[in-house]
Amino acid sequence: MDIKDIIIAIDGYSSTGKSSFAKRIASELGFLYLDSGALYRGVTLFALECGFIKDGVIDEQALEAALPALDLHFENHGEGTRLYQGNLCIERDIRTMRVSSFVSPIATIGFVRRYVDGKLREFGRQRRVVMDGRDIGTTVFPDAELKIFMVADSEVRAQRRMDELVAKGEKVNFEEILQNLSERDYIDSHRDISPLRQAKDAIVLDNTHMTPDQQMEWLLKLLQTRFSK
Ligand code: DC
Repeated sequence: MDIKDIIIAIDGYSSTGKSSFAKRIASELGFLYLDSGALYRGVTLFALECGFIKDGVIDEQALEAALPALDLHFENHGEGTRLYQGNLCIERDIRTMRVSSFVSPIATIGFVRRYVDGKLREFGRQRRVVMDGRDIGTTVFPDAELKIFMVADSEVRAQRRMDELVAKGEKVNFEEILQNLSERDYIDSHRDISPLRQAKDAIVLDNTHMTPDQQMEWLLKLLQTRFSK
């Protein structure tokens, strides 16, 4: 299918499968995939490693002073993009429960959001991009041609996150994951700056009972009617 060069913005709650869906769109339709959550996770890992988070408290002043020197960028590796800090691939390190526990508070900080938005807009200049996050269709690319808002039942989301972490060898507990998800949903949708919201012109995709193939079929139909060349 020949699809126009557009920006596809995929927003939604944690673990609704946004990244897997976006990666598949990128590989099947030749789009560049950008995972905005990875950048917030990269900043969180950096803050933890620098000792800017102690006893659960973030030293915002120290983080703000150090942030301009943080070189986060994506590299393409055939099967998808991976996040790098300088020369170091940090894709695995940013997906741990330790990072997940602090990423939502870090993402409420204004200067962190400006740092991430700057990077995303720079990458997005190419216009054949699929990007996933919480505020892509509302704040980062309000002019995106296609906006999708993904939702799914909490227990299904927790199970998916658990399967992912177990596959990576992490020791995790279902209740802990469910609690982390509900805390992140709350923080993400109640923060002052760019809270998680469905954009007025976004289309809702509830994938609680959908397979990845069914989601792709749904999208292809939509693209065919609205964005084929
Ligand atoms: O998609 P994810 O779970 O990797 O995102 C990690 C956190 O980053 C999430 O809890 C909220 C934050 N985030 C955000 O505030 N805005 C975005 N565009 C993407 C992620």
